[in-house]
Amino acid sequence: MANILCIGAGYVGGPTMAVIARHCPEHRVVVVDINEERIAAWQSDQLPIYEPGLEEIVFSIRDKNLFFSTETNRHIAEADIIFVSVNTPTKTFGQGAGKAADLQYWEKTARQILENSTSAKIVVEKSTLPVRTAEAMEYILNSNDKGLFFDIVSNPEFLAEGTAIPDMENPDRVLIGGRETPSGQQAIRTIADIYAHWVPSANIVTMNLWSSELSKLTANAFLAQRISSINAIANLCEKTEADATEVAHAIGKDKRIGPHFLRASIGFGGSCFKKDILNLVYLCEYYGLEQVAGYWEQVVKMNEYQKASFVSRMISAMFNSVAGKRIALFGVAFKADTSDTRESPALDVCRALLEEQAIVVISDPHALENARLDLKDVADKVIFEPDPYAAAKEAHAIAVLTEWSLFKELDYKTIHDAMIKPAFLFDGRNILDHKKLYETGFNVYPLGKPAQTHFTR
Ligand code: NAD
Ligand code: UGA
Repeated sequence: MANILCIGAGYVGGPTMAVIARHCPEHRVVVVDINEERIAAWQSDQLPIYEPGLEEIVFSIRDKNLFFSTETNRHIAEADIIFVSVNTPTKTFGQGAGKAADLQYWEKTARQILENSTSAKIVVEKSTLPVRTAEAMEYILNSNDKGLFFDIVSNPEFLAEGTAIPDMENPDRVLIGGRETPSGQQAIRTIADIYAHWVPSANIVTMNLWSSELSKLTANAFLAQRISSINAIANLCEKTEADATEVAHAIGKDKRIGPHFLRASIGFGGSCFKKDILNLVYLCEYYGLEQVAGYWEQVVKMNEYQKASFVSRMISAMFNSVAGKRIALFGVAFKADTSDTRESPALDVCRALLEEQAIVVISDPHALENARLDLKDVADKVIFEPDPYAAAKEAHAIAVLTEWSLFKELDYKTIHDAMIKPAFLFDGRNILDHKKLYETGFNVYPLGKPAQTHFTR
């Protein structure tokens, strides 16, 4: 039996520890956080994050071998293995502001581990960190006069929100990086043994610490790069009457390219892609690799352009003015099946439309509460409406910004009847039946495809 502790009960800490605890009933897993409200929610019937399949697991093992607590110091003392899954946002001040990772939470956690430890431990980097962070952590943790030794292991997380549970249950790979010393190799084996409870050994990949740290940043950079690449092509499609979905299908058939992550969209959101690429950009600049930095930075610039380009297309279609017009935004979560709105492109679209003095109504099945917090500075100008039919009533336009399946099942004839004419529909996720919408009377603007309108040129 091992005492496993996870510091940070967020989108990663909560679900990953729930899955570990489920598969390792002989281990005791405790998740702690400084945020008391969050811990109270983990202990309640209303978990702090919405993630399909999560409740079922948490409710079945909570207080058996999975515990949530705010007593970090006590649990550090008891732990054999400590996963650290605290947030690593972009630095907003001083050197590297706007790009580098802000590691203050990580460093505070390392110092707290040291202060409260009376025995040797394995400390696992679960958060996404700049390459060579473990070196600094080793200095902090192992420069002690208690005679304690800490092994640092990198075990980055690859789950995506909305599919966190299946991603964890059936991972493409579990990555574990460690030192090439006997103690480092033993630490790798200890962490690998946890995952071996349910992950086939071929999918547990071990390597050196720095490769592991850098692989996480690289994976996110490559994924985001594919989205920016298809979005760049989608812009060209809109000018040439080519169809971005068809182009994606055609290139995805090539095994070397593959079909995944080629959905043109209003841009990628989420708490990590932008922050992790900017972190990579900063690292390249730090090591004097200006051209390499510029190459990756362009992925983020393209994403910013994509959001602006979507809004420009809306304004231009609606006779160059949206002032005073009610516009219903369908979806504010950064993707479907999550309540998370961090870096959601829908927020940028909302703000840009408000700048143009539109009346913005946001509808979302799970993310309205988070959106209210994100938009609190403009809350008096935004209407939050859970019912999409009510949101679209007397609206000039609908913009689909999150690919919730709920939006595919709506009765668009009823919606159209209640809208101001001509009625516009901008499908920023290409999830609707555009031909049918056009036949219903909508002027339809799919993303990266020719518009279908009732206007004669
Ligand atoms: P999050 O903000 O949801 O959770 C982090 C938690 O850490 C917060 O609840 C915060 O209160 C807590 N915390 C901060 N300092 C603490 C301290 N000293 N002691 C105790 N708790 C503390 O963040 P997240 O989305 O779970 O991401 C965590 C890390 O995992 C980040 O580095 C992120 O890049 C990475 N990651 C995230 C995802 C994802 O899908 N969200 C996926 C893979 C990797
Ligand atoms: C992403 C990665 O997929 C995870 O592997 C990684 O662990 C995680 O970041 C992280 O490090 O935080 P996540 O951001 O939760 O996961 O969700 P994704 O499915 O990657 O979607 C990110 C954004 O890209 C969303 O806004 C989504 O709508 C958009 N997207 C995705 C597209 O616009 N087109 C696509 O083809 C795919």
